[in-house]
Amino acid sequence: MPGRKFFVGGNWKMNGDKKSLGALIETLNKAALDPNTEVVCGAPPIYIDFARQKLNAKIGVSAQNCYKVSKGAFTAEISPAMIKDCGASWVILGHSERRHVFGETDELIGQKVAHALSEGLEVIGCVGETLDEREKGVTEKVVFEQTKAIADNVKDWSKVVIAYEPVWAIGTGKTATPEQAQEIHEKLRSWMKKHISADVASNTRIIYGGSVTAGNCKEIAGKADVDGFLVGGASLKPEFVNIINARK
Ligand code: PGA
Repeated sequence: MPGRKFFVGGNWKMNGDKKSLGALIETLNKAALDPNTEVVCGAPPIYIDFARQKLNAKIGVSAQNCYKVSKGAFTAEISPAMIKDCGASWVILGHSERRHVFGETDELIGQKVAHALSEGLEVIGCVGETLDEREKGVTEKVVFEQTKAIADNVKDWSKVVIAYEPVWAIGTGKTATPEQAQEIHEKLRSWMKKHISADVASNTRIIYGGSVTAGNCKEIAGKADVDGFLVGGASLKPEFVNIINARK
């Protein structure tokens, strides 16, 4: 908690249009947001430019994915250079939908992390176990392996936020309990201390994602190793403001 600025990311996924996102942006721009929270909105790629132009400068904009090289014959992919050119400074990588719907591997995610950081983007790196993995008792193994694939490609940890998002909690309304979130966040921080450094472990933000709402955010935000949220569904609604203000 000390020194780690609370971080709330919105992941709009493939949702919204100029009208609805414009209205959401207006709500965010007008709201009294906790100045102690860093806020970043993950816009669909085609609306990154739109979001950056409309959102107040103090709210960051993120892409939801990128490719591992700067340009070339890679139909429909977008590069960190393009994301930056549209004024966004973050990218979400390794989201569970990229892993499980689109088959992205730890290796590819690691390459994307390396390239995005080398191009000057900041990275929200996502990790998390499936229900099957949790029931088999391999949550830690899975989460540590995914984190290692990201960590092996990071030199400057001040540019990275780790999002712990149990797959069984994403979009299901089945939020992890505050204790379940805290348990994995604490273990992740110990893993970082052992495998990276004590400094990185104590300074890196580990945020929770998976069915976070205005109703459950305060209790989860009260846990010592939870440094914020990555919010899907609720980030498209006015209640996103309450989640941003969870520690207020
Ligand atoms: P959710 O999504 O809040 O809709 O569960 C979280 C995420 O996928 O980042």
